[in-house]
Amino acid sequence: MSDNLHLNIESMDATHDAFLALLSQIKTCSKSEFMPLFEEMIAHTKEHFAYEEEIMNQHNFYGKQEHLDEHANLLGEMEYFYNKAKKFPTFGKSYIHEYAYDKFKRHIINIDSQLAMFLKEHGF
Ligand SMILES: [Fe+2]
Ligand SMILES: [Fe+2]
Repeated sequence: MSDNLHLNIESMDATHDAFLALLSQIKTCSKSEFMPLFEEMIAHTKEHFAYEEEIMNQHNFYGKQEHLDEHANLLGEMEYFYNKAKKFPTFGKSYIHEYAYDKFKRHIINIDSQLAMFLKEHGF
């Protein structure tokens, strides 16, 4: 995980760093910790997205709807795999090990970056 995903908006970067830390924790955790950490990741993601949505509302961000849709997709997918993992742990494992990082990386690079640029232009 050597990609630089920082957008130079401190609060957003801190949230993204916390997500990545949680993701690397869940990748190496014991079996019994897996589902509780997965749950924590969902809770963290809800807060993460709610925070960005709050900023978008406050600043009347032009790309809000697209960003909201992306958040809903990412969160829906995460919850889908979490629920699948209750019965079939392999689904949860493959999401965490093979998908989650790329999904979030793509969101940060393609979507969050637009918001960050907008905020910089508006002196946030
Ligand atoms: Fe984000
Ligand atoms: Fe976002």
